[in-house]
Order: sequence, then C-alpha cells, then structure tokens
Amino acid sequence: MSKTILIATEKPFAEEAIEKVHQIVHNAGGFELKLLERYNNGNDLEEAVREVEALIVRSDKVSKEVIKSAKKLQVVVRAGAGYDNVDVDAASKQKVVVMNTPGQNSNGVAELAFGLMLGLIRRKYLGGPGTELKGKSIGLHGFGHIGKCMAQIAKGFGMKIFAYDPYVNNELMNELGVEACTSADELYEIVNFVSLNIPVNEETEGSINYKLLSKLRKNGVLVNTARKDLIDEQALMQIMAERDDLMYASDIAPNWKVEMEEKFPMRTLFTSKKMGAQTVEANMNSAIAAVTQIIDFFERGDTTFQVNA
Ligand code: 3PG
Repeated sequence: MSKTILIATEKPFAEEAIEKVHQIVHNAGGFELKLLERYNNGNDLEEAVREVEALIVRSDKVSKEVIKSAKKLQVVVRAGAGYDNVDVDAASKQKVVVMNTPGQNSNGVAELAFGLMLGLIRRKYLGGPGTELKGKSIGLHGFGHIGKCMAQIAKGFGMKIFAYDPYVNNELMNELGVEACTSADELYEIVNFVSLNIPVNEETEGSINYKLLSKLRKNGVLVNTARKDLIDEQALMQIMAERDDLMYASDIAPNWKVEMEEKFPMRTLFTSKKMGAQTVEANMNSAIAAVTQIIDFFERGDTTFQVNA
C-alpha cells in the first residue's frame, strides 16, 4: 500500500520546487503526493490530513486538532528551521515523529536581513541621504545556520562582526572572524546593528525586553527575521517613543504594526508576509530535504532530524 505525503502550504513553494518533489516521489515509488496550497483556515488542513501518513508544512499551524484528525499520520516535517508552529507535545502523544530541515533556507533569510537593514538606513529609497554598512558593526544574536550566513555576507560589506550565542563555542566564532560576546547586554551595547537569529521558546519568548532594548547604541538598528514573539512589543513601542534614533525592521509584522508605522514611519520597515525563506533556492532546498527525509524515514527508519522524543 502506498503512503500519502501531503504538502500543506498557505504560502506555496515555488513551482520548480514542487516539480522536483514530484520527481523524487515518483522515482522513489510507493508514495503518493497531495497538495493543499493557499488554504484559508485550520479546518481545511484538519480535513486534508485525515488519510495521510506524512505531512510537509512551512509556517502552517499544525495544532493539536490537526494532529488528532490525522489518524494515520506518522511523520510531520517542518520544511524550515523553526518548528514553533507545530504542537510537538500533541504529536509526541500520538507517536508522530516531528522533524525540521535546519540550514536549508538560511541563506535566503540572511540575505533578506541585509535587505531590510539597507531599506531602513537608505531611508526607504525615497530620495533622502542615507548611511552605509561599510565600517559599521553587526551583532548576531544567535549564531546558528542563519547567523553564520550573515557573518559571511557582513564580511563582504566590510562590517565588524560580533555574536552572542550561549550554545556555540567561542573558538568556532573566532575561526569565522566573529568576536564572541559574553552576554546579550554586551552585544546590544557595542554594535550598530543587531540581528535576531534565535528560535522562540519558553526561554526566549518576550526576552527582547525594555532592559535589553535600552542597551542599543545611538542610532541602533534592530532587525528581526526570526519570530515576533521574541519581542516585548510594548517595550519596543515605549523605547522608540523615548529615543528617536532607534530603528526596527522585521520580516514578521508585529502585532502593533499599524501603530508603529503611524508613529515611526521612517524608523520601521516590515514585509507584507514572511518573506525570508521565500526564494526559489530556499524553497528547492527545504522542500527537497523534507520529502527526502520522509522517504528515508519510511524506507530506512531514518530519524536524523527528529525534534521530538
Ligand atoms: C523558518 O523557520 O525556517 C523560517 O521562518 C521560514 O518560514 P516559512 O517557511 O514560513 O517562510
């Protein structure tokens, strides 16, 4: 009996990526591929997962209701890094393996972070004189796959690079030409630009708070291509009102987007949808990785990228 893999993406993968996934599934044999794209609500997903053994999603919400409705489900792959959209506890209870595809879309996200920084410091390309990245310093808050890509790009811009990540050893940072900081406070205090490259979890949610934000240097720029829940938005609003030198760019529009844009039109920049990983290259990498992981899971019991117990 063939196994059904459902790709459920509210924000679809590039056509090239889907074509490639079709080829891989066809060549493997024993699998059937279904697509649910641009759907409107969780009910559509609950309905679509009923008969599938495997599920591939992006930022799509895999709630406990979705898991419950997927009686045959054995594996969910979040085609991307952050799996905060998947109810991992519910999956574990139902013995569903949850995986991600770390590193596959990092370059797209890293490039967008610089795009956002440039957009802000070039004053949104509206005619006024801006400033440059060359000779400035960047602080990478989090030094995983995206942080490393950003360090590489920052070198090309002629920036000084600092990072803070308690889970990465300093030698590795130094080897890559990055100076390690011993705390987030220290990082925020010394650099011109701070880029958030950390996951959201119990430890990090709301951790970008007033105390930390107040460390930002004069004319500091914070760029967030990670998750909006990292930021204490009320604190961010307050500090931006108190200090007219700070700027904030984000790939995930804040809950307070309208108020922020109204109050600080030239000091904020938000994408209309989460766009960091929305490149053909990143889509190809993560979609191919996801479907390959699923095939390997069923054919060889491979659980290399499993994130749950
Ligand atoms: C990730 O965690 O990999 C990124 O946030 C990408 O999210 P997306 O696939 O929804 O664009």
